Amino acid sequence: MEKKNIDWENLGFSYMETEKRYVSHFKDGAWDEGALTGDATVALNECAGVLQYAQTIFEGLKAYTTEDGRTVTFRPDLNAARMADSAVRLEMPVFPEKRFVEAVVQTVAANRAYVPPFGSGATLYIRPYMFGTNPVIGVKPADEFQFRVFTTPVGPYFKGGVKPLTICVSDFDRAAPHGTGHIKAGLNYAMSLYAIQTAHRNGFDENMYLDAATRTKVEETGGANFLFVTKDGKVVTPKSDSILPSITRRSLVYVAKECLGMEVEEREVLFEEVKDFAECGLCGTAAVISPVGKVVDHGKEICFPSGMSDMGPVTKRLYETLTGIQMGKLEAPEGWIVEI
Ligand code: PLP
Ligand code: COI
Repeated sequence: MEKKNIDWENLGFSYMETEKRYVSHFKDGAWDEGALTGDATVALNECAGVLQYAQTIFEGLKAYTTEDGRTVTFRPDLNAARMADSAVRLEMPVFPEKRFVEAVVQTVAANRAYVPPFGSGATLYIRPYMFGTNPVIGVKPADEFQFRVFTTPVGPYFKGGVKPLTICVSDFDRAAPHGTGHIKAGLNYAMSLYAIQTAHRNGFDENMYLDAATRTKVEETGGANFLFVTKDGKVVTPKSDSILPSITRRSLVYVAKECLGMEVEEREVLFEEVKDFAECGLCGTAAVISPVGKVVDHGKEICFPSGMSDMGPVTKRLYETLTGIQMGKLEAPEGWIVEI
């Protein structure tokens, strides 16, 4: 299929309307058959559950063009499972996991002309989401919902591509203990907007959130998990019940251990330890692995030895292995790649 005439190399992380999206409705206790539509507009009652009480969840994954011209996506079954967890926590009906994967495949196939070419540095971002549609005025869950999937071609999440970021320790909390930090609910992002804008106004690329209870442990950023590398080459990643279980992070942990023979620790990480790490990176679907060069804690700077111009060597090895698997250059562990 001929690709659209888009300046792929210069895409940012922004929305571009593509041709088709998938929609399924939940009513009277059941999901309908679902279908692709060309209509990008959602019409809702003024009192819809999503508008009044933010009953909405989402997912994010990507489609890639491989070197030999196939279109593939990465571990969509894990997005389906995480969305099911999010739905349960927000009192929404689960969209069946097998149907989730089929909907993703169908939507990408219908927008194949928008999947950026291999080597362009861009990818097709896929956004499945679900929200309460019927009128709700007392505080209670909706009983009618829409599940939708749209796609948009994107470039790097952070301007400057893989240039190391400067992040700040946030004065705000992202997630409460026993709250919703571990699911992908729109409300987690709504309440982070003031914090991210504050970080940007102060000249930082992102926030490092600490645990809300003690403010001594590293949690994550607004849209990615952390990976650290010790001076002796061990990979360390924070474990917490209030961070999003990143599919990228879980994949990197596997790749580091099983493919690259590295030592990996998934454990609580004290902020106090950060100054002793050799490298730091943010990992996620949108972020891929974005290196962090500096963390600023109220004027006190922690500068990683990897510096402000390049990724550290371990981060780079992980980045190349992960993207090599995603782009079909390296063999993927069983079941990780779904061909469209
Ligand atoms: N943490 C947060 C808060 C996120 O929004 C995301 C993005 O999805 C991630 C981590 C990374 O998760 P994943 O690797 O599954 O995209
Ligand atoms: C993703 O990486 O898919 C996300 O949802 C993060 C978001 C902040 C863009």
